[in-house]
Amino acid sequence: MTDNKHDGGLSAAYAAKRPEEVAAIYDKWSETYDADMSAAGYRHPTICLALLTRHLPRGAGPLLDAGAGTGLIGEWLAITGYPKVEALDISEGMLAKAAAKGVYTALHCLALGGLPLPFADNTYAGIVSAGVFTSGHVGAEGLDELIRICKPGGVIVLTVKNTLWYAGFAERIADLEVQGAVVRAEETAPYVSMPGEADTIPSRGLVLRVR
Ligand SMILES: C[S@@+](CC[C@H](N)C(=O)[O-])C[C@H]1O[C@@H](n2cnc3c(N)ncnc32)[C@H](O)[C@@H]1O
Repeated sequence: MTDNKHDGGLSAAYAAKRPEEVAAIYDKWSETYDADMSAAGYRHPTICLALLTRHLPRGAGPLLDAGAGTGLIGEWLAITGYPKVEALDISEGMLAKAAAKGVYTALHCLALGGLPLPFADNTYAGIVSAGVFTSGHVGAEGLDELIRICKPGGVIVLTVKNTLWYAGFAERIADLEVQGAVVRAEETAPYVSMPGEADTIPSRGLVLRVR
């Protein structure tokens, strides 16, 4: 599927044009995703966990892992003291792996960036989205709904690949700040998410506090 050594379906997912294509790629990749990402030195979940624990008190909830995949972050959130975490992903296959880890209180097979999400306003104390705001996945259009369903004072922790950042994402964040919808609580320096891979386009971690 790819020339890269460990990236499973990622190159294909980057090139995907439609959400159904992305879901199918991840369905297929779900069996080997954890091993492939571990071999590639995948960093986004670790960075997101570090940021979330710095900005959200232990035990805060409920949380939403938006684009949870196989649940890498969910496992660590359970260990570090966030017992109420829900998972959302477009891929049934990835969600099945996440479910098997037994750490999520609910699983939602839904798409970000399209139809409104079926959650009430101000539902979540925190939202984490690692490796989702990237090429071929979800763009800045996915932000508004995450802000709507996050409680005022809650945080949204996400990673954004430079490809998106410099194609309007940075401006969108600046606009949201000017509108008073969010405050940029933290932004990391750019880093490469998978040092073991050929794709060296950096991403950054971002913490938005919802107002
Ligand atoms: C690189 S994986 C990251 C998964 C997990 N957050 C992690 O860090 O291991 C990207 C995930 O985003 C999901 N995804 C892609 N597009 C999506 C969309 N529009 N809505 C919801 N999930 C999406 C994929 O199915 C996949 O599980």
